[in-house]
Order: sequence, then structure tokens, then C-alpha cells
Amino acid sequence: MKKIILTGDRPTGPLHLGHYVGSLQNRVKLQSEYNQYVLIADAQALTDYYENPEHVRKNVEQVALDYLAVGIDPKQSTIFIQSQVPELFELTFYFMNLVTVARLERNPTLKDEIRQKNMKDSIPAGFFTYPVSQAADILAFKADLVPVGEDQQPMIEQTNEIARRFHHLYKTEIFHDVKAMIGTTGRLTGIDGKAKMSKSLGNAIYLGDTPNELKKKVNAMYTDPNHLKVEDPGTVEGHVPFTFLDVFDPNKTEVEALKEHYRRGGLGDGVLKKRILEILEAEIAPMRQRREQYAKDMGYVKEILRSGTEAARNVAAQTLSDVKKAMGIVY
Ligand code: TRP
Repeated sequence: MKKIILTGDRPTGPLHLGHYVGSLQNRVKLQSEYNQYVLIADAQALTDYYENPEHVRKNVEQVALDYLAVGIDPKQSTIFIQSQVPELFELTFYFMNLVTVARLERNPTLKDEIRQKNMKDSIPAGFFTYPVSQAADILAFKADLVPVGEDQQPMIEQTNEIARRFHHLYKTEIFHDVKAMIGTTGRLTGIDGKAKMSKSLGNAIYLGDTPNELKKKVNAMYTDPNHLKVEDPGTVEGHVPFTFLDVFDPNKTEVEALKEHYRRGGLGDGVLKKRILEILEAEIAPMRQRREQYAKDMGYVKEILRSGTEAARNVAAQTLSDVKKAMGIVY
């Protein structure tokens, strides 16, 4: 029996290189070894975008295209739409009893988001409880592994706590212990050098960027502001092309040599930008090609989502039935 992966993303915008090195790469790598479910978390996105459901709706197919573009293979992985699996929300309601408000308030990811979005005293209850819904996503598939970016780690911990509490209270072991799997780079820097690449910060390189967009973004990468003339010695720390070379350039010895040269002086930023542009273009070009193929046949993409959702629904319904049995709510 293959072990199970459940993971996903909120469809609030196109996916970027941060998603790629944080988790998409792992999903592509592991899909043959695991039974993999990938959810497009539109309902979770709505806990934040409820005033603009159209925005979420629009992005569902775009995220599906991103998945297919990076090489998530619909023959090996089940891609589905969260809102179309109502069993998840039924599970959420029962799991809600197994978490305290105080515990949710301590969830670091949630705390960060509440601060960032300036929600203060007007936190929607739906948003506040989305970690429980996320636990339901994971537990509905009895997942063993969740490939995600670093910021999602607290969600996995919370999921395990809910599962343990369920087992303890209802004396039935239904769920597996879940592990997060963080990619080669849990948190990729933005092109402006800020700690995190994100759509809302406007510092992202998207997997669907054209060669021209990519080039512009690489040229705009933050470097050492004190490195004015090529001969000047430069600082490597916080230098975005170097940060990206560390992540994407397979030739680490050459990267180290370049760093030494840059520190010494005599190495221009243009050389480094050219190098990282070539590497990123080689990474993104096949994605662009695959995206174009699929985008030509959106009927097929919709069919992938429809059949994936149907398969996912069957699994979630079985788990819901196990949960109700364990709780004795069968009439
Ligand atoms: N919270 C994830 C994000 O922000 C999306 C998500 C929803 C998810 N349910 C999940 C991720 C379950 C992993 C497992 O993109």
C-alpha cells in the first residue's frame, strides 16, 4: 500500500518560484511513490476573499494550469477543488470541538496573517478557524505526508493535535501521524530582497512569466547598493542574484568562486544577473511549454478537475463515515 500525500494551495493568484522550491518540486518528485492528492483550496481562499469570490473562482483554473505546467501528472496525482467536497466541511465542524480558541490564537501562521492583514478586532470566524478546516483536508485523506512551504508547518502540528485528541476521545485510531515536508528552500526571497516572495509584496517571479517578464524581473533584482563600480568590493549577503544562485545553480563550486570574486571586487552585477537569468529561463521554459499545451484544451483541464474531485469525494466520504461511526452519530 502506497503512503498518502495531501497538499494544496489557495487560488488567490498565480503560483511563483517560492511555491516551486517550497513544495511543487516535491510533489512532482513524490507523485509516483505516493498516492498524491492536491487540493485547490478555494474555500480556504474565501475565508480571506469572501468579498471577492470572483477573484478566487478565476484563479482555480490558473492554479490547475500551474500544477500541470510544473509536471504534476493527472494520471499519477488527483487534483481537486476543495469547495466541491462538502464532506470536508462536515469534518471541520466536528473537529472544531477538539480545538480551543486559545490554541488557535497561538497558531503562529494565523497570528502573522492577522497582523499582516490588520484584522485586529474584526477577525472573521471563518478565517480564524481555517486551520481546523485545513486539518480536515489533511485528515479526510488520512495523509502521511504534506509537502508545503515552511509557513505551513504550524498547520501540520495543529492537525496532529486534532487527530490525537480525536483518537483519545472516541477510542478509535483512524488517522495517521502527519509529517510536513519542506522543499529545498522553505522560504524564497523576493526579487526586492525581502524575506519572502509573495504576490501581495509584488516581488514574485511567476511560473507563467514570459521570457521578457522574467528578464525584467531579474534585471530589477536587488543587489549591493554600495557596489557602484565594478572594481568596488561587494557584499554577497542579501544580494538577490547570489541568493537565487544558491538555490537554483547546481554548480556550487562556481558560485562560491563568484562570491569570492564579488567580495574582492571586479565582478559586475550584470554577469550574475545574466547567469541567474539563464538558469531560471531553463527552469521555466518547459513549464511554459506544458502550460501552453494544456491551455489549448481547457475542456481537458476541466475534466481533470471534475474526475479528480469525484475521486477525492469518495475518499473523504469514507473517512467521514469512519468519523461518525467512531463518534456514534449513526442513526
Ligand atoms: N494553507 C495552504 C495555503 O495557504 C492551502 C491549504 C489548504 C493546504 N488546505 C491544505 C495545504 C492542506 C496543505 C494541506 O496555500
